[in-house]
Amino acid sequence: MKGRLVTFEGCEGSGKSTQLRLLSEKLSKQGISHIVTREPGGSDIAEQIRNIILNGKNTAMCDECEALLYAAARAQHLREIVQPALDKGMLVLCDRYVDSSLAYQGYARGLDLKFIEDINGFAMRDFRPDLTLFLDISPRAAFERKHGADKGDRMEQLGLEFHEKVYAGYLRIAALNPERFLKVECGGSKWDTAERIYNILKSHKII
Ligand code: TYD
Repeated sequence: MKGRLVTFEGCEGSGKSTQLRLLSEKLSKQGISHIVTREPGGSDIAEQIRNIILNGKNTAMCDECEALLYAAARAQHLREIVQPALDKGMLVLCDRYVDSSLAYQGYARGLDLKFIEDINGFAMRDFRPDLTLFLDISPRAAFERKHGADKGDRMEQLGLEFHEKVYAGYLRIAALNPERFLKVECGGSKWDTAERIYNILKSHKII
């Protein structure tokens, strides 16, 4: 049986990594076989592409190059890591996937959405997420929760206005894909959010 692909999306500081860690620990205790991976990256070659994309010195990178590099990293990561795990019937939990490209490069950068769909269609073929959990917290609220922004990588250097556009993009994706792309309220404690995520995976028969 083919495994399931569940992706996690959200703005910077939405707590995806923490939630993935908590979920993975719980699934491991229950003996549910799964992998946790991330984009951009997740495999050696894709991590090398990640370093180029996120390098804060690469300020001259054009939006088209950025979009193609995310798609290139996705193609490699999919074939090397995701597809083999799905073929073994495993559950794959991925920190960001194609919706990040739609939200960041499409809605926020303003690149043509059809171009983003096309290059990612080529990169992913029919490996679409079975379910996507969107950790729903606005960039401003996430910023305040963290007591300040990371100013590290090239994407984090973009201001609040850019990240508000990303957030609006995600809300649009949620409205267009109500069955697959689910909002998870995550303004409370990390334990409350973890329980919500677990319950959604149960009710959608992912676990
Ligand atoms: P990362 O440090 O993994 O961010 P986070 O912890 O917030 O997930 O860096 C990934 C950055 O790349 C993040 O700013 C989102 C951005 N991104 C895109 O713009 N497009 C994409 O397709 C992907 C996968 C990520």
